[in-house]
Amino acid sequence: MEKKFKRTLITTALPYANGPVHIGHLAGVYVPADIYARYLRLCGKDVVLVGGSDEHGVPITIKARREGVTPQDIVDRYHKIIKDSFEELGISFDVYSRTTSDTHSATASEFFRRLYDKGEFIENTSMQLYDEEAGQFLADRYVVGKCPHCGNERAYGDQCEACGTSLNATDLIEPKSAITGSVPVMRETKHWYLPLDKWEPALREWILEGHKEWKTNVYGQCKSWLDMGLQPRAVSRDLDWGIPVPVEGAEGKVLYVWFDAPIGYISNTKELLPDTWANYWKDPETRIINFIGKDNIVFHCIVFPAMLMAYGDGFQLPDNVPANEFLNLEGD
Ligand code: MF3
Ligand code: ZN
Repeated sequence: MEKKFKRTLITTALPYANGPVHIGHLAGVYVPADIYARYLRLCGKDVVLVGGSDEHGVPITIKARREGVTPQDIVDRYHKIIKDSFEELGISFDVYSRTTSDTHSATASEFFRRLYDKGEFIENTSMQLYDEEAGQFLADRYVVGKCPHCGNERAYGDQCEACGTSLNATDLIEPKSAITGSVPVMRETKHWYLPLDKWEPALREWILEGHKEWKTNVYGQCKSWLDMGLQPRAVSRDLDWGIPVPVEGAEGKVLYVWFDAPIGYISNTKELLPDTWANYWKDPETRIINFIGKDNIVFHCIVFPAMLMAYGDGFQLPDNVPANEFLNLEGD
């Protein structure tokens, strides 16, 4: 029997504030979410439509460096452009905030800290490439070199665009820093990992048994991830742009952007409803729907739910995660 819900929380993927939104985002995420929210409002339902900009992560720092400005300048510029486009288009957000807000850093910090205090993380030290000239660790994207599979001389540390293979920066032959061009060295660094394997049985049960009605692209991707077996995932990075890891001895480390961004849904709800936000997150009678793009499936169906289960305290998992595929324009 169809479950009855008292209220609906609709979230929309937080676009990165490093470029304007394009028609694929609008058609795949924001217009469908807006239609759904407007429909529920017309039916007299209690509904909240939440959005905001995703303002952390490496690409924003790369863009800032290229332009000779700060990451804050970049996100201020694009947050405004994106927010204005949504307004002009008439997307009826109840709140459109940003992950550089104070509410968000406090919420994301507290989230990490609680998992840390509960012993939900694994600490692990590994060797990473370090640029001595720039004085910083290099995210995979910041490293260029020769692809070990096809020999392309200009492969990135996370992927070779010539042959499509996904890589680790340490796989590259003759790696060079994309920041200074110097040859990076290996240096030890400590990070915190969320053991997704611990949550695998619960995720299998919740998705594969409990949500057979999800769109086939979403269900299929989840099934293939779960069948491959889940691994612990690092939730921190060596970077100077982001929310500091709230632990002693973590100087120069920030929360991984995909750790803090989905918490942005919670922070933005808090900004809108400082007193009653928890009704939308912790009541089993609230229906939570996450509108996203296809590249975000694993984070919304596997990683964020594992974070919420690890956090506990009544947080509910989404009831559905409609993800779009490609938008075709003139047959392309
Ligand atoms: N910024 C991401 C992207 O554009 C989406 C983040 S969704 C959130 O792919 F859940 F993390 F907020
Ligand atoms: Zn290649």
